[in-house]
Amino acid sequence: MKNLLIVFVLLFSLSAYGAPHGDKLYATHCSACHGIDGKGGVGVPIALPSFLNSVSNEYLKKTIRLGRPGRIMPAFDVLSNAQVSAIVEHVRSWTDKPAPPESSASVKGDSEHGKQLFAKYCVQCHGENGSGGKGTGVTFSRKRDLPIIAPALNNTGFLAAASDVMIRDTIAFGREGTPMTSMLVAGLSENDIDDVVAYVRSLEKSAAELKQNLNQNDEEPPTIVVDSPYDLEETVENLKQAIIDQNFTLIRTDYLEHGLVEEGKENKKQVVLHFCNFGFLFEALAIDPRVGMFLPCRVTVIEKDGKVQLSAVNPKRLSRLFNNHELDAPCDEMYEVYSSLLEDATL
Ligand code: HEC
Ligand code: HEC
Repeated sequence: MKNLLIVFVLLFSLSAYGAPHGDKLYATHCSACHGIDGKGGVGVPIALPSFLNSVSNEYLKKTIRLGRPGRIMPAFDVLSNAQVSAIVEHVRSWTDKPAPPESSASVKGDSEHGKQLFAKYCVQCHGENGSGGKGTGVTFSRKRDLPIIAPALNNTGFLAAASDVMIRDTIAFGREGTPMTSMLVAGLSENDIDDVVAYVRSLEKSAAELKQNLNQNDEEPPTIVVDSPYDLEETVENLKQAIIDQNFTLIRTDYLEHGLVEEGKENKKQVVLHFCNFGFLFEALAIDPRVGMFLPCRVTVIEKDGKVQLSAVNPKRLSRLFNNHELDAPCDEMYEVYSSLLEDATL
């Protein structure tokens, strides 16, 4: 009896820990963006039958592994093969049709002609050079023209995951329930569609260059640090003045340990200033709501061993952290602002 119990316990723990659970893995790694039921959010919907019934498991696996560099969708390179397969199996459970097989057949076409067709039939949604619609995923709070934003096609993750046949079928038949409509219905011939596939394939080079550029900020330090020639009090006053001079709203000044230790016991040599420019804040939030985690802006002033130092998060790291190419420009702008504030305060 006791032995039987041990066997049961063993079997149970094997089933609990041995095989990965796709539903739990999906909830942990994907649901924040694609929704717990795959209906979409920051990420595009992935539960739609028109999508699932037209893509192979190979496509799903590669998409999870490679992500979409610069387009928010992260690369899940730390998951095991078994975990990726379990997630795919869970995603598959949303449709009762079997997955279409992966096809290695190549589609030949005239990419120059395809480019002309792309400018006429695709660019309004997929952007110049297939760089994707502005913003990502499905509309929630953000106002936009389309309910679902067109993914980037000049993307190493997409191009490595998608077969020629998958690209052709998506263009030919569209995806019911999304703005991506059938191009056969729109009037393109099968030959035209092959030409567009050839053009989409030709984006591989520019996709690789884009990815290369994204990696540039990898060398950026996580924080910007500047030494101050003044004492703590004077540095804080200078910084306040610089914040106001640059048309920011000073929200408040706290001790860094505020709320972390008993009131009155905070280290008085560590001060943090919170400030903001509401125009900028709304602009950045409209691009990517996750920016809210780093706003309002903060600069910390610390005195240690008689030395005063100012520091701020390096905004150039944010666009990398969020894997969102559209944040590059506002993050660069924010970097310039931070740098000049720190410079003004220590001049
Ligand atoms: C009205 C807007 C619109 C137009 C026009 C349009 N698309 Fe799309 N396209 C979308 C949307 C939205 C999706 C994502 C659909 C989804 O969520 O499954 C998409 C998906 C795709 C995909 C699959 C991408 C992926 O990551 O799975 C390909 C390939 C594609 N479109 C190519 C084209 C081509 C080529 C044209 C022109 C011949 C075109 N589209 C025209 C909106 C559009
Ligand atoms: C931080 C947000 C985020 C997370 C987390 C995320 N995704 Fe995505 N995913 C996206 C976005 C955004 C896109 C569309 C990319 C674009 O617009 O170019 C996308 C695209 C996709 C696509 C391609 C859809 C298509 O139409 O071809 C699949 C499949 C996908 N994600 C599956 C997953 C799975 C499975 C997970 C979890 C392992 C996951 N994603 C995690 C944001 C995310």
